Amino acid sequence: MRLRNIPGAREALEKDDFVFVETDLKKGHWDEVFPKKGPLHIEIGTGKGRFINELALKNPDINYLGLEKYSSVLIKAMKKLSDKSKDNLRLIRIDATDITECFERGEVSKIYLNFSDPWPKDRYAKRRLTSDRFLNRYEQILPKGSCIEFKTDNNDLFEYSVESVKEKGWEIVYLTRDLYSDSKELESNIPTEYELKFTRAGNNINKLIARFI
Ligand SMILES: C[S@@+](CC[C@H](N)C(=O)[O-])C[C@H]1O[C@@H](n2cnc3c(N)ncnc32)[C@H](O)[C@@H]1O
Repeated sequence: MRLRNIPGAREALEKDDFVFVETDLKKGHWDEVFPKKGPLHIEIGTGKGRFINELALKNPDINYLGLEKYSSVLIKAMKKLSDKSKDNLRLIRIDATDITECFERGEVSKIYLNFSDPWPKDRYAKRRLTSDRFLNRYEQILPKGSCIEFKTDNNDLFEYSVESVKEKGWEIVYLTRDLYSDSKELESNIPTEYELKFTRAGNNINKLIARFI
């Protein structure tokens, strides 16, 4: 993602009641920030927030948190929050490396990863959000039986991620290398900003659902 510094973004996020920052985490108490109790689903690397916003509107009984590390990106997601999505959606500025500081064991029931940065060089493989290092962190916040859902147009990252979850002993629940040819799965699909761009460019979209068992 091309990042432009947006003057005042940090301060604007810190003032907003619907956005949480590194110094204001509710570990173990996220249910208290929502008007209704419900399962907590998160998206890591939420970007400008199209996906999580739509998802929250579609599923009013689930509470959602969108995690993003850059203020200049998260401010765009903040501006997308509507009165309706504010019922069950909040945003957090955090680097996912620190995710276990943010959630108690078993507090999150699903993780979405959409078009995560591929980090193609081997020496940065540990930074991939589907690396063994990150899966270990997810195992500390998800109860057994919960899933991650991952979409990407990057075929190398996808194959790496499939191997990574298999090596960890997670169960593969769903896998396609061409989401747009699976009409059943597409019925409930919410495209992200990157997905819209890449499908328009003719790229195939891979999707994996894997369960921590
Ligand atoms: C390629 S963009 C995809 C954005 C969005 N998910 C989409 O599909 O349109 C990846 C996003 O993940 C964020 N990101 C990357 N690494 C992250 C990390 N370790 N913690 C939190 N956010 C991260 C980036 O800042 C960026 O906004």
